Amino acid sequence: LNFRKVHFVTSAPDIRHLPNDGGIEIAFAGRSNAGKSSALNALTQQRQLARTSKTPGRTQLINLFELEPGKRLVDLPGYGYAQVPLDMKLKWQASLSEYLQRRESLRALVLLMDIRHPLKDLDLQMLEWASNSDLKILVLLTKADKLNPGPRKNVVQQVRKATTVFGDNVFVEAFSSLKGIGVEEVTRILSEWYQS
Ligand code: GTP
Ligand code: MG
Repeated sequence: LNFRKVHFVTSAPDIRHLPNDGGIEIAFAGRSNAGKSSALNALTQQRQLARTSKTPGRTQLINLFELEPGKRLVDLPGYGYAQVPLDMKLKWQASLSEYLQRRESLRALVLLMDIRHPLKDLDLQMLEWASNSDLKILVLLTKADKLNPGPRKNVVQQVRKATTVFGDNVFVEAFSSLKGIGVEEVTRILSEWYQS
């Protein structure tokens, strides 16, 4: 599977505006500013495929990208950012949870967390929900370039240990879109998930 062959399909405010619910979707979720859009760009080696920003709350729609017919990547709005006005937050959160609960083609979740602040309450809730929904889960500890290799390894091990309670379908990798850390591993894991 060549992730560079990706193309943009659509941005939708809710699932009613998404194309046919067939094939396989793997969605990128996580707190605002965790690095979801940057990770998608790193993985597909495109600079501007998904829009990124220093300001949390950049991604406000459900963004669909296609790798091959029936194989899609999804960039989701972030959760947990306090500064977003409440009415907007409620709107995104509604479309986010609707997507997560109703979208039949959703096969796996890539759950991104800043390696310096992993496993916050909402992340744990996502893990709990995704494991109960029989989704495969890849936890990416993002901005791994911010830690030296020693501490980085420690966090990965701690998070692997802490997530065993969510079952055998949880994988944990360090990731940096800036330095390319973890890109090969993620490519391998997601390629496998699209085949199965
Ligand atoms: P929302 O769409 O707002 O939920 O955010 P997001 O999760 O899509 O995050 P985004 O990719 O827009 O990145 C947020 C910020 O983190 C930007 O300033 C990025 O440059 C920075 N960032 C993302 N990935 C990395 C990384 O691997 N290393 C470092 N150092 N910074 C990163
Ligand atoms: Mg984003």
